[in-house]
Amino acid sequence: MDKNAMKKMAAERSVDFVEDNMILGLGTGSTVVYMVEALAKRVQAEHLNLTCVCTSIRTEEQAKSLGIPVKALNDVDHIDLTIDGADEVDANFQGIKGGGAAHLFEKLVATTSTRNIWIVDQAKVVDTIGRFPLPVEVIPFGSQQVFNKMTKEGLNPEFRMTEDGQLVLTDSKNYVIDLHLNQVQHPHLLASWLSEQVGVIEHGLFLDIVDQVVVGAPEGVKILT
Ligand code: 5RP
Repeated sequence: MDKNAMKKMAAERSVDFVEDNMILGLGTGSTVVYMVEALAKRVQAEHLNLTCVCTSIRTEEQAKSLGIPVKALNDVDHIDLTIDGADEVDANFQGIKGGGAAHLFEKLVATTSTRNIWIVDQAKVVDTIGRFPLPVEVIPFGSQQVFNKMTKEGLNPEFRMTEDGQLVLTDSKNYVIDLHLNQVQHPHLLASWLSEQVGVIEHGLFLDIVDQVVVGAPEGVKILT
């Protein structure tokens, strides 16, 4: 079955968890695009009264264009539920995010949220995270020094580039360094090391954050709790 069809299945199922009057976090990425479309249909059909907080300019533009009410993270006092995509997740619900370079805002929204649901296709459910390159958002000033420290630490860093050879900029105008690790055996240790590095804004290890994973698979949608 096509990967996008599995993403769409998971995305459409996830909006069943949305209830009237919720403050909802909206993630970023191609799976979230399907989710926002499905959410907009429910909002319209059921006249749901929602407030949504977006994790990227892209998601905000889509939500607004579909008539979904949006507020800034600073303008809400809590978030009930956040629905987001992910790049990898293991059986202990430890994951990697940031393939779309939005993990800073995503982590801010996720850690404000009472509940977090991820929507993925089945290929993203893995035994050990790390095959997907781990994104790290860094401040441009001195970023080569941060890169050098990562190299010394054996983390195989690579600045993320656009197709036309420019450094990728996040919504906060920072750079992204992807770490080619193949396997992350000790995610908490790596997360601590990365967080200690001056110049690192946020890394894409999302540990002990997600509560439920909705997985699109050829045999149907599975809900992992
Ligand atoms: C963006 C993310 C995305 O949620 C993640 O990359 C999954 O994206 P997609 O749904 O396009 O596969 O973390 O920063």
